[in-house]
Amino acid sequence: MKTILVTGVYGFIGSNFIYHILKNQDFSIIGLDCLSYAGNIENLLGLNEIEKERFTPIVGDITDATLVSKIFSDYPITGVINFAAETHVDRSIHDPGAFVKTNVYGTYVLLEEAKRCWYKNDKWEEGVKFLQVSTDEVYGSLGPTGLFSENTPLDPHSPYSATKAGADHLVKAYHDTYGMPVSITRCSNNYGPYQFPEKLIPLILRNALDHKPLPVYGDGLQVRDWLYVMDHCNAICCVFEKGLSGEVYNIGGNNEMENIRIVKIIIRILNEMTADPEINESLITYVTDRPGHDRRYAIDARKIHNALGWKPETKFEDGIRMTIQWYLNNKDWMKRIISGQYREWIEKNYEKR
Ligand code: NAD
Ligand code: DAU
Repeated sequence: MKTILVTGVYGFIGSNFIYHILKNQDFSIIGLDCLSYAGNIENLLGLNEIEKERFTPIVGDITDATLVSKIFSDYPITGVINFAAETHVDRSIHDPGAFVKTNVYGTYVLLEEAKRCWYKNDKWEEGVKFLQVSTDEVYGSLGPTGLFSENTPLDPHSPYSATKAGADHLVKAYHDTYGMPVSITRCSNNYGPYQFPEKLIPLILRNALDHKPLPVYGDGLQVRDWLYVMDHCNAICCVFEKGLSGEVYNIGGNNEMENIRIVKIIIRILNEMTADPEINESLITYVTDRPGHDRRYAIDARKIHNALGWKPETKFEDGIRMTIQWYLNNKDWMKRIISGQYREWIEKNYEKR
């Protein structure tokens, strides 16, 4: 049985990915996560007994080279899928250092330990692979038309996207310099269960349920391409198995939407599902824009479709309903994670907007 190291397993996409891969692949998974404010051990309580036998969680930091080296010595790891990252653009504006440390240095530690373990006698071990989970934000911003392709030059604007671009360059450098088998995926905005409520969709959901203002940055006409998280997980499995070494694969939902439209859709569906008349558009509040805010993202995902046969399966109207229903069924999960550290951060950094 293949053993792979997956990082960031208690985060939003990481936990969805663990459910997906344990269900669909006969792999043994070592899961590494430092349980930052965004990591939640509760996210994987739904694994069944058979799945748990193939999952070994380790609480630890990807920047801890001693720990990462020990993990490579203790387990016969032949693949790495790196989800672990600091991921929130607004936080990166307030505290870029944490992003440089995890996203750039942490990726370097994983690459270096993988190389130490997999490269022997001037040869790479058969069948090994390092997959870096990256983002469309590394390409920067688009005007009203056009799409990001894999050849679009990197032009990151936020400290978050700059560190993700830095990590992408390092992964490419390990391929170009040492011949390491690598793949890089660059995906658009994900939505679905377990997303931390600092991100647009769960934040709007949470505030609406509490009848609090719904903060829309600037004019609300910024455009993002939304993809259901399980479609992203499926794409990553596809690239991990079939992607060519040294290649980048864009992943997107072909589902561009202005932020204000998303907010209005959430209000409409929540209003219908809860029959609460106080959840309505009067809660929308335009607030100061995010500095350096990227105007529009849109993905050309023809490469992964044509080369690997992947395409998104979940229609937005279905995915958003499943997501809203999940948050309504898991109000206690939400309550627990927004206490403590998260509440303090919101009070300190968002109070003036
Ligand atoms: P998240 O913030 O929900 O989760 C990140 C996870 O990484 C958490 O469990 C956290 O504890 C862990 N982590 C953070 N620093 C760590 C460290 N130093 N060592 C070990 N673990 C650490 O993030 P997410 O939204 O699930 O994103 C996962 C990955 O996907 C990231 O690399 C992100 O850049 C990328 N991505 C996200 C999206 C999106 O829309 N969310 C889109 C494209 C790409
Ligand atoms: O594109 C992929 C990226 O998507 C990932 O790499 C990031 O990790 C992920 O956080 C996400 O980044 P965004 O900045 O696009 O996501 P966020 O949910 O923070 O914001 C989505 C849009 O909504 C963005 O244009 C900013 C806006 N926004 C966000 C928040 C939190 C608001 O208008 N109000 C808000 O309160």
